[in-house]
Amino acid sequence: MELIKSVAEMAELGRKWRAENKRVGLVPTMGYLHEGHLELAKQAVAENDLTVISIFVNPIQFGANEDLDVYPRDLEGDLAKAESVGVKYAFAPEAADMYPTGFATTMDVAGVTQTLCGASRKGHFQGVCVVLSKLFNLVQPYRAYFGQKDGQQLAVVRKLAQDLNMPVEICGVPIVREADGLAKSSRNVYLDEECRKQALVLSQSLQVAKRLYDEGERDAGLIKAAVQAHIETAPLAQIEYVELVDAVTMQPVLKPEKPAMLALAVRFKTTRLIDNIILG
Ligand code: PAF
Repeated sequence: MELIKSVAEMAELGRKWRAENKRVGLVPTMGYLHEGHLELAKQAVAENDLTVISIFVNPIQFGANEDLDVYPRDLEGDLAKAESVGVKYAFAPEAADMYPTGFATTMDVAGVTQTLCGASRKGHFQGVCVVLSKLFNLVQPYRAYFGQKDGQQLAVVRKLAQDLNMPVEICGVPIVREADGLAKSSRNVYLDEECRKQALVLSQSLQVAKRLYDEGERDAGLIKAAVQAHIETAPLAQIEYVELVDAVTMQPVLKPEKPAMLALAVRFKTTRLIDNIILG
């Protein structure tokens, strides 16, 4: 495993690989890797000549009152985990190298960023788009891998890459769950025992939606109400949103005809969890 810490060195390697016609797979992460990330890495390793995992807690995608300062970090552990699934390169830059004094560029993918998490986390997707554009320019990947758990992020990145003709294939990878259904997330470490137990209502409520959909229910209001009612059986759950959106545009739908995403964000004490399921 080669650890690249400098932006200049990463740019140099990216150029070299491109000149050698190497197909590079990129797995962008903020570290504290779990099995969800490792699934992305395994797929990248299987499909490309070489794989780079980026490990960078991107400060500009965190809001003022979010968890940037306490976001879990474990570079040593991450390198070992990535290496165990065949990743050969890790890019872990310093924030000052990615965003030197005077950095001034912002990016906005309209529409798709305005609902769900984009509505409550102002500036979040702008920060995601800037860092991914930088990573794509530095690493020059042939493919980049993202988890379906961050379903809106995946839709935003697809739109970004399409609109700007970025020469990278965006690959979505299914959600990896704990045995009891909780979606894997680096933020699960924040959950105390009681919250961890009650957080099971999230994946259960998605199954409620799926059952209704499979039985032929197409009234978004009814599906959302059933999901909400199930989440509310957990006394600690504070719902931020339960929404049914078009799976590509992220705009709310009244009657899901094309594939739709039932997405939710719920807080358990200070921990905000998201989850989703594609219907249709
Ligand atoms: O999903 C994440 O971990 C981050 O948003 C990403 C894509 C690595 C950009 O910082």
